[in-house]
Amino acid sequence: MKVTVVGAGAVGASCAEYIAIKNFASEVVIVDIKENFAEGKAMDLMQTSSLLGFDTNIVGSTNDYTKTEGSDVAVITSGIPRKPGMTREELIGINAGIVKTVSENLVKHSPDIIIIVVSNPMDTMTYLAHKVTGLPKNRIIGMGGALDSARFKYRLAEALACPQSDVSGMVIGGHSDTGMIPLTGLATRNSVRISEFLSAEKLEEVAKATMVGGATLTGMLGTSAWYAPGAAVSAMVHAIATDSKKMFPCSAFLDGEYGLSDITIGVPCIIGKNGIEKIVEIELTEAEQAKLKESAAAVSKTNALLDA
Ligand SMILES: NC(=O)c1ccc[n+]([C@@H]2O[C@H](COP(=O)([O-])OP(=O)(O)OC[C@H]3O[C@@H](n4cnc5c(N)ncnc54)[C@H](O)[C@@H]3O)[C@@H](O)[C@H]2O)c1
Repeated sequence: MKVTVVGAGAVGASCAEYIAIKNFASEVVIVDIKENFAEGKAMDLMQTSSLLGFDTNIVGSTNDYTKTEGSDVAVITSGIPRKPGMTREELIGINAGIVKTVSENLVKHSPDIIIIVVSNPMDTMTYLAHKVTGLPKNRIIGMGGALDSARFKYRLAEALACPQSDVSGMVIGGHSDTGMIPLTGLATRNSVRISEFLSAEKLEEVAKATMVGGATLTGMLGTSAWYAPGAAVSAMVHAIATDSKKMFPCSAFLDGEYGLSDITIGVPCIIGKNGIEKIVEIELTEAEQAKLKESAAAVSKTNALLDA
C-alpha cells in the first residue's frame, strides 16, 4: 500500500511515523509546501528504520505531486493549526484554499485514492474535499471522531481510575468544542454500563472535559496536539490497508442517514478497503438526536462560508 501524507508538520509527521512503525505500508510519501521540509522529515524518520524495525520506505517531496502517483490513501494535514483561544472554525479562511488545491492535486495523480481529511475546521474541509474532487462519498473521510473518542476513553479511565483498555465509548457529531456528542449512555466498562460506576454529575464532567480536549491541549502546548491526532488517523489508514472493517466515528457524507443530507459530520462508520464501507445508524435518545441536529446546523453554517 502507498500512502501520501500532505503536510509534514506536527500531525503529518506523527501520522507518517505511526504508519511506518506499524509496518503495513510499502511506501509513505510526505508532501509539504515548505522547501525541503518534507524531505528532511522523511530522512529523519528513515534513520529510525533500523532502530525500530520497519521496512516502510518514506519519501519527502516539496509540492511535487508526481511522487504521490498511484497512492491508495492520502491524509490531508496541510494548513494552519489553532493557537490558544482560537476555535477550529476560525481557520477556514486559510485552510479552505489549501485543502482545495491539495485535494485536486491528489486526485489528478491518483484517481482511485481514498482521502482522509484532518485539517480544520475538519467537517467543513471534508465537505469541501468531497465537492471539489467529486470522489464517491465512501472515499472521502474526515478524521475527528476517532480522536475525540480516544479522548473520551482517556477521561473515562481517569474518572474510573482504571486502564483505558477496560473502557469503551464513542463521540459523534461535529468536530468542534460545542458540536461533539460523547455518547455517555452507551459507554461501558468491560460491558457494564458506565452509569453503574459514575454518577450523572461525574459523567457530565467527563463529557465536558472530552469536548474541550483539543482546546485544553492547545492552551498547554501553544499549538494543537499531534500524538493522538496522528495515532487516530494512522489507525484509520491501518483499517483501510488491512480491510479490517473496524468501526470508527468519522465525518461522512450523509444522504438521509440520521435525517441529515448534504453534510459531512461524525457518525459511526465501518472502515475497510473501500474507505467507508457502511454508515451505522444507531438509535439515539431524543436529547442526543436534538444535539446532533444542532451540531449539524453549526457545521452547515460553517460550510456556507465556503461560498462567501
Ligand atoms: N481533525 C483533527 O482531529 C485534528 C487534530 C489536530 C490538528 N488538526 C488540524 O490539522 C492541521 C495541521 O496541524 P499541525 O499541528 O500539523 O500544523 P503544522 O503547522 O505543524 O503543520 C502544517 C503543515 O502544512 C504545511 N502546508 C501548508 N500549506 C500547504 C500546502 N498548500 N501544501 C502542502 N503543505 C502545506 C505547512 O508547511 C506545515 O508544515 C491543522 O489545520 C489543525 O487544526 C486536526
